[in-house]
Amino acid sequence: MASVPSLAATVHQRVADALSAALPEAGSADPLLRRSDRADFQANGMLALAKKLKGNPRELASKVVSHLPVAATSADPDPVIEDIEVSGPGFLNITIADSAITATLAARAADDRLGVPRADSPGTTVIDYAQPNVAKEMHVGHLRSAVIGDAVVRILEFAGEQVVRRHHIGDWGTQFGMLIQYLIEHPHELDHKDAASGQEAMSNLNRLYKAARALFDSDEEFKERSRRRVVDLQAGDEETIALWRKFVDESKIYFYSVFDKLDIEIHDPDVVGESGYNDMLAETCRLLEESGVAVRSEGALCVFFDDVKGPEGKPVPLIVQKSDGGFGYAATDLSAIRDRVQHLKADTLLYVVDARQSLHFKMVFETARRIGWLNDQVHAVQLAFGTVLGKDGKPFKTRAGETVRLEDLLDEATERAAAVVREKSEKLGLTEEEILERGAQVGIGAVKYADLSTSASRDYKFDLDQMVSLNGDTSVYLQYAYARIQSILRRAGEGQRPLAHPELRLAPAERALGLHLDQFGETLREVAAGFEPHKLAGYLYQLASLYTTFYDQCPVLKAEGGPAQVENRLFLCDITARTLRQGMTLLGIRTPERL
Ligand code: ARG
Repeated sequence: MASVPSLAATVHQRVADALSAALPEAGSADPLLRRSDRADFQANGMLALAKKLKGNPRELASKVVSHLPVAATSADPDPVIEDIEVSGPGFLNITIADSAITATLAARAADDRLGVPRADSPGTTVIDYAQPNVAKEMHVGHLRSAVIGDAVVRILEFAGEQVVRRHHIGDWGTQFGMLIQYLIEHPHELDHKDAASGQEAMSNLNRLYKAARALFDSDEEFKERSRRRVVDLQAGDEETIALWRKFVDESKIYFYSVFDKLDIEIHDPDVVGESGYNDMLAETCRLLEESGVAVRSEGALCVFFDDVKGPEGKPVPLIVQKSDGGFGYAATDLSAIRDRVQHLKADTLLYVVDARQSLHFKMVFETARRIGWLNDQVHAVQLAFGTVLGKDGKPFKTRAGETVRLEDLLDEATERAAAVVREKSEKLGLTEEEILERGAQVGIGAVKYADLSTSASRDYKFDLDQMVSLNGDTSVYLQYAYARIQSILRRAGEGQRPLAHPELRLAPAERALGLHLDQFGETLREVAAGFEPHKLAGYLYQLASLYTTFYDQCPVLKAEGGPAQVENRLFLCDITARTLRQGMTLLGIRTPERL
């Protein structure tokens, strides 16, 4: 299906255009047109405009009303406005013609993108997300980064943005000296047949990590040998590097198994961990030092900030190179910025990282601005997310106070969801295999939706009972709304998409649903501009709620108005389902056809 140029026109846009045409002196002034409880829309822009033109707002508003074509008086066979009146100090209350609602939706329904326009001037965004650490268990924070990052990637790509993914995994650092040295001294530890599963790979690593740590803390000589091993690693010694790679590869088996469970696609070439920037570190330091952005202080290479101070008012610098010559997290991130800006040609750098790292990124970004790697054309944003809390409102831990294993959590979500699906499955005659497949789609969807439906910066409670509930603001509710519509469409049994009938009058629930559908494109634009998936989740939840009201109040297959009304209501069902599906897909959540 080809895109029709007029598709970008929403009811909202058409009303705004009609208002400007009726009042040429408004120029490009914003009519401040909003959805309203009093009428379909209210425009409040006359107040500011009257001030500017030194006129009376009510008079200006009346002028608009008298110049505007409305249904009863207009020669236009398809007026968008049914009725308009002045209220209060000069507000305009606007009622939309039923035919305009239906006709606009029909034009959008004819387009694969549901009439959602692409961004006017797309750029290149490098997004840093899903970045767990080698030889360590993934935790709920890594879950948030992956889920939010994946949704933002989908949303930006749909808007037409060029997106480059970077998974900045923690695959470098002094801890590898200890791990490698231990492995050399206990060669059979990772030597089993290739790990059969991700979880097995992880438990092997975990066991090794703990044993190495214990030895490191208790045996001074092992500690010393580990330190020398770090030097070998940095010098690129062959045997050492081979063992390091073994840790990375083993960990990747595990990461991929978790991402797979999460139904998130990660591609190997996009995994560029900390080690990927090793060759740039010395040069980064040289550039920072030569430009004077960084200075030597007690042997270390530091960047200072006026507003970053420690407890006693002592400045806390960003340390780019330690006094022993070692490079840390900051040097790597600064090198990654150079790479992403100069090599990948990004104009936006996005970091989906825990809010507890905000000070680090603030200092890193400011440093990059001082040296000019970031500037007015190229900017960096941390999409900082809050902490995952348990039901008790404290950081999420097991009863024994340990970090919860991500895999266990996902498995439990899936099991609970399967139980919900199983209960309803009798009616649908689902096979056990289908129940399990849908259980995963519902359970993983529930975990993702709970994360995505609150603003990322807020902490959120991980409460599986609430997540898989059929009522309330959950993905299950949305998935059921979608499946219910599909079942109606199947019962209608038409091979082709139902057509719209703009000549029909609409019931209030149809109008409310239609006007909300009209806002899909505008919502997505806002969601993409502010990296705010929760606004999309909110939109979809409201869409499902409005559909539920419509379904309760307006019989579809037994509509009293005859075959045209049946088809028009099927049309509304169809475009609602397609909008739900598109929106859920952008959040990374599946919509099973039968549930
Ligand atoms: N690996 C880090 C962690 O687990 C997150 C990395 C964030 N990205 C970055 N460019 N520093 O906390």
